[in-house]
Amino acid sequence: MMPAMTAEPMLRAKGVNKSFGALKVLFDVDFHVMPGEAVGIVGPNGAGKTTLFGALAGSFPVSSGAIQLAGRDLSGTSAAERCRLGLARTHQVPRPFLGMTVFENVHVAARSGAGMDQASATATAADILRRTGLLALANRPAAALGLLDRKRLEVARALATGPTVILLDEIGGGLTEAELVALVDLIRSLQAGGLTVVWIEHILHALLRVVTRLVCMAEGRVLTQGDPRDVMAHPEVQRAYLGSSPE
Ligand SMILES: Nc1ncnc2c1ncn2[C@@H]1O[C@H](COP(=O)(O)OP(=O)(O)OP(=O)(O)O)[C@@H](O)[C@H]1O
Ligand SMILES: [Mg+2]
Repeated sequence: MMPAMTAEPMLRAKGVNKSFGALKVLFDVDFHVMPGEAVGIVGPNGAGKTTLFGALAGSFPVSSGAIQLAGRDLSGTSAAERCRLGLARTHQVPRPFLGMTVFENVHVAARSGAGMDQASATATAADILRRTGLLALANRPAAALGLLDRKRLEVARALATGPTVILLDEIGGGLTEAELVALVDLIRSLQAGGLTVVWIEHILHALLRVVTRLVCMAEGRVLTQGDPRDVMAHPEVQRAYLGSSPE
């Protein structure tokens, strides 16, 4: 672990550009999250939020710029290697192994993501299922889960890899108010346990119960970032939202 006195970001993107063929999606994006911090990312549809997660997590190489984890340059490291280094992400569309049970999904993540042996993975999976409220569903096929439980499972699979940083991509969408409260409680408990959290979310009232800093993206750029109230009151942020239709 890093000494608490260092002011080094836990995760950082420096001048990141990303193009998919002729389509440029990220423009000089600078982003960071400090150890133990919870940061929210907002912005209209198509702003490049999920693409930033892909760049951070190593889903694809960036076109230029750098990603650093606790000061270490991640250039050339695969998504699997970044996962082993403590960087976990959830996907906007949950991606469980549908033919496996809930338990098996989390067990596999502990085995392959954290490199645990059978016994440790079993103990870890049970612990994480308890923490994420999925224990009663452990033997249910993932395909049989409703949306909230699929999202919980997405979080559980990410947690099973033993992360120091978790990237959450719109895990609140489509949930009822009561389900949102449960989700917010879960994320707060993870942060209280020392996890660094980055959360992309359109549902602002849920996001603002967790994060202390907000980053607003639009058209592939960081528009502004800082105190959530200042960010939401920023004229360009207002314009970006009024010019689109966030959920
Ligand atoms: N693999 C890809 N190939 C080509 N274009 C892509 C790819 N991934 C994303 N894009 C494009 O990049 C832009 C940004 O997409 P991205 O998914 O990052 O936005 P977002 O901010 O996450 O939006 P949303 O709020 O709808 O999830 C969009 O125009 C999208 O079509
Ligand atoms: Mg997205």
